[in-house]
Amino acid sequence: MASSSNHLQPNYTHEPVLFQKVLAMLKPESGQHFIDGTVGGGGHAQGILEASAPDGQLLGIDADPEALQVAQVRLEAFGPRITLVQSNFIRLEEIAGQRGFYPVHGILFDLGVSSMQLSVAARGFSFQRNGPLDMRMDPGLQKTAADLVNDLPVKELADLLWRYGEERRARRIAQAIAAARPLTTTGKLVEVLIRAVGRRGRIHPATRTFQALRIAVNDELGALEAVLPQAMRILAPGGRLAVISFHSLEDRLVKWFFRQEARDCICPPDMPICSCGHRAVLRIVTRRPEVPSAMEKAGNPRSRSAKLRVAEKL
Ligand SMILES: C[S@@+](CC[C@H](N)C(=O)[O-])C[C@H]1O[C@@H](n2cnc3c(N)ncnc32)[C@H](O)[C@@H]1O
Repeated sequence: MASSSNHLQPNYTHEPVLFQKVLAMLKPESGQHFIDGTVGGGGHAQGILEASAPDGQLLGIDADPEALQVAQVRLEAFGPRITLVQSNFIRLEEIAGQRGFYPVHGILFDLGVSSMQLSVAARGFSFQRNGPLDMRMDPGLQKTAADLVNDLPVKELADLLWRYGEERRARRIAQAIAAARPLTTTGKLVEVLIRAVGRRGRIHPATRTFQALRIAVNDELGALEAVLPQAMRILAPGGRLAVISFHSLEDRLVKWFFRQEARDCICPPDMPICSCGHRAVLRIVTRRPEVPSAMEKAGNPRSRSAKLRVAEKL
């Protein structure tokens, strides 16, 4: 379970996004098993456990030991109905298998970082707080954002900013970073970014670079791509997978996975007869993604870009 930490902020909470919609989609009932693959501060997990009282079970996974400490305190009252595991969710099937925790009735991934992680300067996630250029969700990971920023050749850094941040000024930014090396703090990186691209536009000039570095440090897209088929394998027939994404790269990945796995044949359109043998494994529940109401967006600005997609195992 979670190791001890210096950054824990027990009074700082994370407001779960699309909370009611997630519960309406997962429809928890007593006696059922659920996995929250990104348990974070435990907000969604608490809702699932309450709705599946008195004996629903929840397996909560998070890469971040500090998040798990917060979840453990919040979910303590549910006693043996919860199991918390510190791991990347890329090990979903193995973790569920080791504990005999499948088939499951619902799986949730609420992707990205939590408000708790953003609020701690020492984690290095936020461009609004000065701290070390870290950005690791799991402190056991080898490479930090500083390693990428200081060690990558300019071209590779520019590619990374373009691919994971969809940053149009990637080349200019990569060159400015290389000229300012070594960079060790978020504050210094923000200064370099503002100098390189100015302050024009609606979004902060550091937004895309920070997103790109965080995705790369934690291999967020690789983990998501790998876990979706695992989730379908451990769901019970009729069980549901719910994914909340916060940027188009994640959302696209989920959308295409759902589309592909909802089809019987995935041969190229010019094939005269099917040779793939592929069979649909899911039904798409959300033809269009669910998004937060204006009221939720106003009360919780972090929810602004959230999109919820849900699929049901056939
Ligand atoms: C948006 S927060 C989840 C908040 C949670 N739903 C709640 O109600 O408090 C995302 C969490 O997922 C974790 N996370 C992101 N990617 C992960 C991965 N690949 N494996 C495990 N945990 C991950 C982060 O550490 C973070 O705590």
